[in-house]
Amino acid sequence: MNIKELLSVKVTQSLRDAGAAFDSKALVCQASKVQFGDYQVNGVMVAAKKLGIAPQKLAKKVLQHLNLIGIASKVEIAGPGFINIFLDPIWLAKQIEISLVDDHLGITAVKPQTVVVDYSAPNVAKEMHVGHLRSTIIGDASVRTLQFLGHKVIRANHIGDWGTQFGMIIAYLKKHQNKKIDTMQISDLEDLYRKAKQCYDQDAYFAEQARSYVVKLQSGVKYYKKIWRKLVDITMSQNQENYRRLNVTLTKKDIMGESLYNNMLPDIVADLKAKGLAVESEGAIVVFLEEYKNKAGKPMGIIIQKKDGGYLYTTNDIACAKYRYETLGADRVLYYIDSRQNQHLQQAWAIVRKAGYVPDSVSLEHHMFGMMLDKNGKPFKTRSGSNIKLSDLLNEAIKRAGQLLMEKNLNFSSEELLKVVEVIGIGAVKYADLSKNRTTDYIFDWDSMLSFEGNTAPYIQYAYARISSILKRRDIDEKYLVGDIILTENCEKILATRLIQFEETIIEVACYGIAHIMCNYLYNLASIFSKFYEVCPILTAKNNKQRISRLKLVSLTAKTLKTGLDILGIQTVDRM
Ligand code: ARG
Repeated sequence: MNIKELLSVKVTQSLRDAGAAFDSKALVCQASKVQFGDYQVNGVMVAAKKLGIAPQKLAKKVLQHLNLIGIASKVEIAGPGFINIFLDPIWLAKQIEISLVDDHLGITAVKPQTVVVDYSAPNVAKEMHVGHLRSTIIGDASVRTLQFLGHKVIRANHIGDWGTQFGMIIAYLKKHQNKKIDTMQISDLEDLYRKAKQCYDQDAYFAEQARSYVVKLQSGVKYYKKIWRKLVDITMSQNQENYRRLNVTLTKKDIMGESLYNNMLPDIVADLKAKGLAVESEGAIVVFLEEYKNKAGKPMGIIIQKKDGGYLYTTNDIACAKYRYETLGADRVLYYIDSRQNQHLQQAWAIVRKAGYVPDSVSLEHHMFGMMLDKNGKPFKTRSGSNIKLSDLLNEAIKRAGQLLMEKNLNFSSEELLKVVEVIGIGAVKYADLSKNRTTDYIFDWDSMLSFEGNTAPYIQYAYARISSILKRRDIDEKYLVGDIILTENCEKILATRLIQFEETIIEVACYGIAHIMCNYLYNLASIFSKFYEVCPILTAKNNKQRISRLKLVSLTAKTLKTGLDILGIQTVDRM
């Protein structure tokens, strides 16, 4: 049940019935203080101002039209014209029952859309580093959220699998016949790439060879394609291992790299020329955009084809957006790419819109994110200043989680221990990232992310494990929890309300791709549960009726925490 939506619709209608302008909005939100009830209406003041009448007077009229019988137990006017809504415990109890018996927690399907999500996007012949971590895990949380709501999601792993670097690597391999590509690891490829680049920069003959191989590759000559394919396969097989460890849903089937658009590029350039959008300038093909100014204050020129005939990253993203709309049938395209690429994307899309490749009804959204910083606020790097490999970071997470659990001295079998260590270590890293507002940089700090206190994965995972043990102790099967939910104590009502707010939370996350809203919700729910558990005895409740009712609440709490974490791509264990 989306309470916020339900109340918004009803109050907005009453506002209009009370004489407010047709475009007036109720502005319903969760109450900021307990004394304001559960929800508050903030829109009356604005509407009254437009009408030129006292807000209190309009609020009274709104209440005459507002029928919340069976939903709210009290509705009152407060302050200069706010309306406070107190939910009816009987109605809440009913919503809890509905959520409890449904795998989807009672969430009704939304109008399904086709959403393409561009995320992860590592580069071939290079190891994944921490820079790809954010895109990978934030993007995957978004994918899981949209899928949960019933959307058709197409994962697009836009890997960097095209460009001059392949010519260099092939030239290097040819020069050193002894190099056997078949047995190579990704770390060998990185080394190979470095050496190839050196030759390219120092040896003019080598550079010329490399360029000719790029042309051969681009025109599809078999031998070159074969080597290229091998390079891609080696890279992506090893990246797949990172995805598995990270519990990320990407598979080989989701690879839609830059190379996919290569054949579209000549036609796009020709079409942009024909439409008068692209012109020749100093030998290159350029689109001048009025909305971007260069240093001289003139429209900025975006090169889409170089003098030597080569295409650019922007040309590729123009084709890619077109493909996602035309071929994949996207209603929405979400790009999880760091904020430094924002201008690049905006320019590519400005051209896409002018050319009419993607209609305005289809949104192209850059869900950008900031950088990972170290404790000193500097980019997170190794001591020698190079990028931290993702696999090393994950190993460290496992090591630290292992130490943490050793201290706790729980009697796990070794198999169980391995599982728990992985769930806690990986969960902590993912949660630390997801719980920050993605648009800003954040400080990566091992100690705080692995803490059992505060807004961390272990805190929420622990709350879940605690409930599991309560339910297990009683050998409680949801099916045998027969009896009504009775919400009498304050902490019962607060827990019940928060549980039902899962739906409005997930809708917000899906809309803006902001996973931290889900994290805040789960953290808050776990804290509310903790308080509830302190003051409301469960197994020693007053009577059986109350015990059953509380067990049901607790059972839905466990289910909600698990579902919420699952949407974030974070696992749970029954004991920790
Ligand atoms: N491979 C690029 C990088 O590592 C990211 C690609 C993002 N997607 C896109 N459609 N441009 O920076």
